[in-house]
Amino acid sequence: AQTVTRDAHGVVTVGGIPVTRLAEEFGTPAYLLDEADFRARARAWRTAFGHDADVFYAGKAFLSRAVVRWLHEEGLNLDVCSGGELATALSAGMPADRIAFHGNNKSKDEIRRAIEAGVGRIVLDSFQEIVRVAHIAQELGKRQRVQIRVTVGVEAHTHEFIATAHEDQKFGIPLAGGQAAEAVRRALRLDGIELIGIHSHIGSQIFDMSGFEVAAHRVVGLLKDIRDEHGVELPEIDLGGGLGIAYTSDDDPREPHEIAKALTEIVTRECEAARLRTPRISVEPGRAIVGPTAFTLYEVGTIKPLDGLRTYVSVDGGMSDNIRTALYDAEYSVALVSRSSDAEPMLARVVGKHCESGDIVVKDAFLPADLAPGDLIAVPATGAYCRSMASNYNHVTRPPVVAVRDGEARVIVRRETEEDLLRLDVG
Ligand code: LLP
Repeated sequence: AQTVTRDAHGVVTVGGIPVTRLAEEFGTPAYLLDEADFRARARAWRTAFGHDADVFYAGKAFLSRAVVRWLHEEGLNLDVCSGGELATALSAGMPADRIAFHGNNKSKDEIRRAIEAGVGRIVLDSFQEIVRVAHIAQELGKRQRVQIRVTVGVEAHTHEFIATAHEDQKFGIPLAGGQAAEAVRRALRLDGIELIGIHSHIGSQIFDMSGFEVAAHRVVGLLKDIRDEHGVELPEIDLGGGLGIAYTSDDDPREPHEIAKALTEIVTRECEAARLRTPRISVEPGRAIVGPTAFTLYEVGTIKPLDGLRTYVSVDGGMSDNIRTALYDAEYSVALVSRSSDAEPMLARVVGKHCESGDIVVKDAFLPADLAPGDLIAVPATGAYCRSMASNYNHVTRPPVVAVRDGEARVIVRRETEEDLLRLDVG
C-alpha cells in the first residue's frame, strides 16, 4: 500500500524535509511531490521498455512545466489532449515530435496548432476527424503522422467511468463490424495524413494483464487485415495507459519491467503468429508514474463524533482538490503526520469543507482517538488526477504543488488566490 515514510525519529518527511516545516512554509492543503521519486518512476518505465519502444507520459494525470522538463530530461515523450496541455508542453521545451495529441473532440484550432507545432502524432478518434485532420494538414502544406484509435471490445475490470474499450462509449472507432478497417481504408487514401499505427487504450487503474492481451491480439488482427488488404505493414502500435497503482493495501501493482516484458511478449507472439514484422510499441502511463509520488497534506479542523457510527474529521480541502472519492468511489488511506500518537484507533471518515454530503476524501479510515484540531494528516497517492481535476467549487482556491528534492522545496504550481478568482469575474 501507499504509505507516508517516516525517518528514524518517526518524523514524516518528503525529499528530506519534515512535513511540519513544509506546512509552515507553504500552508495547507498542499500537494507535496517527491521529485526524485517521480524521476525514478519515469526512468524505470523508460528503461523497462528500452529503445525499441516509446513511453508517453499521459499529461492529464498531472501536468506542469516542471513536470515537462523532468520528462524531457528522463527521455520520455508526452501525451496531451487539449490546447492547454499542448501549450504547457511546448512552453516548457518538450520537442514537438515527442508529443502525441489525443482527444475525441479536438477543435479545428487545436488541430491546426498541433500540426503547425509539428507534433509527432495525432491520434484520430472518429471518421470525421480523419477527414478534418487530413484537410487542415493539407491546407498547411504538411503531411501529419497519425494513429487511429480503435475500441477492441474488452471489458476492463475497473470503474465504469474509467473503462474505455467496451463499445458503448465515446472513444475510438470499434473494430466490430469492420468499422476500424473502413477507417483505415479512408485514412490511407488521404494525402494530408500518414497512417503510422493503431492505438488502443482499454481503461485505467487496471491490474489484470489479460485485458491488454486481448487488446493486443485484436489490434494485431487488424494490422494483419491491413497488410492483406493494402499490402502495408503499419510500423507502430500503442497500447495506451491504465496500469494501476496501490491506493490501499488491497491493490497489488506490477512493476514497469514486468509490464514491459508482458506487453512486448504479447505483441511479439501475436505478430509472429500473424507473420507480421513486430511494430514499434508505445505506452501511455500517467497514474503509474505520478500517482504515488505525491500526497495531500491537510489540516484537521472540526472533529465530530457520531455516536455508534463514526467520527467525521473535516479538513481544509475536500472534493475540490480530490474529486476521485466522490466520482469513482475511490479508496484512499490517511495518516496523522504532524506528531506520533499511541492513542487507540477510531473509525473515521475524512471529509472536506464543501457544501455537499458526498464531499468525502477518505471513506473509511482509522485515525488515533486523540486527533485534535490543528493536527496535520496526509492522504497518500494523490499525484494523479487530483490537482489535474481540481475545481473551484464554493470558490475555494486550488492548492499548490510543492516539489521537494534533496532537502529543497520548490513550488511548481502556486496556490490560487481569491484575487485569481476575482480576476476572472468581470461582470
Ligand atoms: N492514454 C489515454 C488515451 C488515456 O485516455 C488515458 C487516461 C491514459 C493514457 C492514462 O491513463 P493512466 O495510465 O493514467 O491510467 N480521471 C480518472 C482516470 C481517467 C483517465 C483518462 N484517460 C481517474 O482519476 O482515475
